[in-house]
Amino acid sequence: MAQGIFITFEGIEGSGKSTQVKILAEKLQKDGFKTITTFEPGDTEFGRKIREILLSTSLTINPLSELLLYFADRIQHVSEKINPYISEGFIVISDRFTDSTLAYQGYGRGISLELINNLNKFLLDEFKPKITILLDLPVEQGLARNRNINKNDKFEFEDISFHNKVREGFLKLAALEPERFIIVDATKTFEEIASEIYENIKERLKNL
Ligand code: TMP
Repeated sequence: MAQGIFITFEGIEGSGKSTQVKILAEKLQKDGFKTITTFEPGDTEFGRKIREILLSTSLTINPLSELLLYFADRIQHVSEKINPYISEGFIVISDRFTDSTLAYQGYGRGISLELINNLNKFLLDEFKPKITILLDLPVEQGLARNRNINKNDKFEFEDISFHNKVREGFLKLAALEPERFIIVDATKTFEEIASEIYENIKERLKNL
């Protein structure tokens, strides 16, 4: 592959994204693809500082300030990491990207989707992943999983209805772009999920 490709994983809290990102990257590396994993928010030096602010449970942040910080992180992420690796022929796999902003800040917090899409257009030239894997599961199961690993992020403190809006938001985004999204049932075992993702990605890579 002369030009690399950009793949993202999306889903609610506790959907198992980070584990699946790692497994997919290892499988693709074994197949000989140059592969790199990354995440949002916070996978640049600048982004790490923004992540601290965004996920701090002691700060009250205006939803629009929050939105712009996610974009600030993303602009840095795309220019410093994602684009350079894609230009060098890497498969870049990111744990979350703009669909998370549409789901959490848009569907969850109620910020206009048009505003978010316009920011994406003007700030990032509508840069989008080629393939997005949505790990879908009921909110109660995802939150219970996170509680088991004692994860206490800012969004853990939101109520169930917020997380349900986020989950529904992701499913609506997937329905709008069925050719980009692969929806995977994340209640299955992690081995089953991993092989379903790998088979799907191999098929798609053949057709690129
Ligand atoms: P993580 O738990 O996957 O590391 O993500 C951190 C939190 O950031 C997660 O609760 C979702 C939230 N988030 C947004 O609200 N909007 C975004 O655009 C991104 C990338 C993440």
